[in-house]
Amino acid sequence: MTEDDAQLEARLEEQAVFEPSESFVSDANVSDPGIYDEFEETWPDCWEAAADLLDWESDYDQVLDDGNPPFYEWFTDGKLNASANCLDRHLDERGDEAAIEWVGEPVDETNRTYTYAELHREVNEFAAALRDLGVEEDDVVTMYMPMIPELPVAMLACARIGAPHSVVFAGFSADALATRMDAADSEYLVTCDGYYRRGDPLDHLAKANDGLSTVEHDTTAVVVDRLGDNDDDFGHGLADGQHDYDDLVDAQAGAEVDPVTRDAEDMLFLMYTSGTTGKPKGVKHTTGGYLSWVSWTSQAVLDIEPGDTYFCAADIGWITGHSYIVYGPLALGTTTMMYEGTPDYPDRDRLWEIVDEYDATQLYTAPTAIRAFMKWGEQYPDRHDLSSLRLLGTVGEPINPRAWKWYYKHVGDEECPVVDTWWQTETGGMMITTLPGISDMKPGSAGPPLPGVDVRIVDEVGEQISAGEAGYLTVQKPWPGMLRTLYDNDERFIDEYWAAYSDVDSDDPDDWVYFPEDGAKIDGDGYITVLGRVDDVINVSGHRLGTMEIESAIVGVEGVAEAAVVGGNHEIKGEAVYAYATTENGYEGTDELRDRIITGVEDAIGPIARPERVVFTPDLPKTRSGKIMRRLLENIADGEEIGDTSTLRNPDIVEDIQAEAGD
Ligand code: WTA
Repeated sequence: MTEDDAQLEARLEEQAVFEPSESFVSDANVSDPGIYDEFEETWPDCWEAAADLLDWESDYDQVLDDGNPPFYEWFTDGKLNASANCLDRHLDERGDEAAIEWVGEPVDETNRTYTYAELHREVNEFAAALRDLGVEEDDVVTMYMPMIPELPVAMLACARIGAPHSVVFAGFSADALATRMDAADSEYLVTCDGYYRRGDPLDHLAKANDGLSTVEHDTTAVVVDRLGDNDDDFGHGLADGQHDYDDLVDAQAGAEVDPVTRDAEDMLFLMYTSGTTGKPKGVKHTTGGYLSWVSWTSQAVLDIEPGDTYFCAADIGWITGHSYIVYGPLALGTTTMMYEGTPDYPDRDRLWEIVDEYDATQLYTAPTAIRAFMKWGEQYPDRHDLSSLRLLGTVGEPINPRAWKWYYKHVGDEECPVVDTWWQTETGGMMITTLPGISDMKPGSAGPPLPGVDVRIVDEVGEQISAGEAGYLTVQKPWPGMLRTLYDNDERFIDEYWAAYSDVDSDDPDDWVYFPEDGAKIDGDGYITVLGRVDDVINVSGHRLGTMEIESAIVGVEGVAEAAVVGGNHEIKGEAVYAYATTENGYEGTDELRDRIITGVEDAIGPIARPERVVFTPDLPKTRSGKIMRRLLENIADGEEIGDTSTLRNPDIVEDIQAEAGD
């Protein structure tokens, strides 16, 4: 580190509050601080501002119908189509401008640009093909694809014909795919032959086929030929009931499909996410409220406008990619980037090379990526001209102030505001963040709730707590982007998100409080620091994983009697999976069993859930009522002092586990 860097580092380290630069503020989409009071006073009508960003086929009657909480309805009786809002309405003005700039992982491959006109054409053709295959309005179409342009094409084609999509992250396993298709009664799958990861082609179709073989009903699949007709193809061929994407689209050349008129409250998509219990939850998002929410937040927080080249480095297989690669940016008519590969292939400056080459104007990524960039060193961003960037964002997990400051300095050159955005699959879009044209930033704190969003930090019984104390995050009023229910499970919807702090027998919306299952604290200025999940969900590299799902995969392995999984601190990933297991009689905790456990987790969920460590122990620490004390296991994983063990039935076990874990 040079002297200069050291001084700079010291200065940044001390600085706790950062003002957005003059140059950003003067041009920001939202820069009037009066918006906070205005939205509070006019709530819920303030959200007409979000609905106004869309084209409606017929106007809504009411902004909010809160007659049957927590089943809120937004923009009731309004009619619109999401695909028409993301495509058709832009054709006259910017048909020839890029809608998607796609960068494949191999550097010698030609990147692809889809103008709005081209994207519109392909979406129409694929929508016609889906109809021909038998897809009807309200049929759930599953997508199991990596970051290739056919994924947003398929999503928008579904939206066009009113068929909700359910995208399953490509890194999930065959089992995870099958579980999700079964849960949503989904008979259609769009997938691909393979894709590239760190230079190697992956055989994705083998995984898709494995999954399909266990789905409980008949399925029809469309397979995109991502790898082309070269030696990289894995030569599966297409089975009965499987169709080649290009053949389908070619056969529909020039087809036009009128966008189906959807009610504001009609389902746009399902997204399965992890919760406290083993079964993933099918989060239902609607057409009007969701699309309004992601459009408004894209404009106000990411400062997106047409003409920008906006780069979100998330995967469309997660909610961030749905809201802020596909729907928000395209609804606003901007250019959205898609990158297929990892940030360190072929070298650790790949992202900076893309920003430089395309003159990206915003970059939105996860703290885990920023921590990796920081570890690799500033020489990588320094090699490139990043001056096109005007705003930086983060999402997915808490960001530590050091990583925030590194991002601000080495990527944003102290000119770009950093928005640390807190939200969830369930919230549809951002909820807590600074507004970049208005607010000062405090590294480590996401900021105040958005205008019109009523977040409070409460104690166990729901009483608001004082500044500085740790408590629970709650949202006291509904918002347009909120999930409407869990697929086919209203009861679980209430149990999971509302029961903790609501009077569930009341019809009065004031008695209903949404609980996102995060801990948080607030400071004297109303800035919120999110402390992390308070349920059995862990956040590995910004990916949400249920510990119960992982545990059930582990106990499914022959020779394992019992398992407990916790999140331990990890320098890059934020949290990592730590597994503790006891063996059945006749089995020993050998390396062979450890390998089988790891494979078992990868098969059940995917490599993202792979345990960092598997510790064998004669017993798990349990309370007298038999409950596993995960907190102690977390202490052990983090090498911390062990908390109170007096309530344990088997306090001696703690030392044994520590000894094992310390090996
Ligand atoms: C965590 C991702 C701190 C949080 C969009 C939440 C965050 C969970 C932040 C949702 C942030 C997300 N600061 N924690 N800025 N953003 N989280 O559903 O625990 O994959 O409940 O949605 O990520 O994860 P999900």
